[in-house]
Amino acid sequence: MARKFFVGGNFKMNGTIQSIKDIVKNLNDAQLDPNVEVVIAPPALYLLLVREHLREGIEVAAQNVFDKPNGAFTGEISVSQLKDSNITWTILGHSERRTILGESDEVVASKTKFASEGGIGVIWCCGESLEERESGKTVSVIEKQLAAVSAQIKDWKNIVIAYEPIWAIGTGKVATAQQAQEVHEAIRKWLKANVSDEVAEQTRILYGGSVNGKNCKDLAKEKDIDGFLVGGASLKPEFVEIINSKQ
Ligand code: G3P
Repeated sequence: MARKFFVGGNFKMNGTIQSIKDIVKNLNDAQLDPNVEVVIAPPALYLLLVREHLREGIEVAAQNVFDKPNGAFTGEISVSQLKDSNITWTILGHSERRTILGESDEVVASKTKFASEGGIGVIWCCGESLEERESGKTVSVIEKQLAAVSAQIKDWKNIVIAYEPIWAIGTGKVATAQQAQEVHEAIRKWLKANVSDEVAEQTRILYGGSVNGKNCKDLAKEKDIDGFLVGGASLKPEFVEIINSKQ
């Protein structure tokens, strides 16, 4: 079965009620490739606003979720609360949460298990720093991240992988199509060797890091690039061009 192209928009900690309504209107009015799965991730405060105004067929993601049932966890949001609010996806393991908020591979894996088993789709992020790339450690860093999550996950059907090299995030310095393809291929090989042929074949692997309306078409041609996780450009009208990059 062919992997359905997937484009996520990660708004990070950006936006206002008005600017987010404008983004939603732009998406509602746009002609989007029907063969693409589109998911947008506004800050938690705006999740319900987006879900209320966004047209059906486009899904909404949280940028994080906690790995415990409802209870005394000040500041956190649960999987069941996301489901109650019709928020069907979450991003987990973004490098900003790993590096700034100190989330370890194990914390990310535990959240991924809790969310995916609870019936929420997970956009699980991995990626290397510039220093790690320059010292030839890219694949081993990602394999370590994959091993931590794989140790806790039995069923991969609710998981999409996003490869986001840290040096390409928000820097305007996009990985070349070849650089991204090499890592995506290595991820797929790892899944084949360590999980199963089926999971390797069916899991979508997205690229994230300075994707824009100009560079998306070249990246989208690579055989192991199944979509994008877009930051800055998801706040702009060019997000529609990125969604339609296969056309
Ligand atoms: O999650 C998306 C991301 O980290 C890439 O951000 O702004 O480089 O597209 P950006």
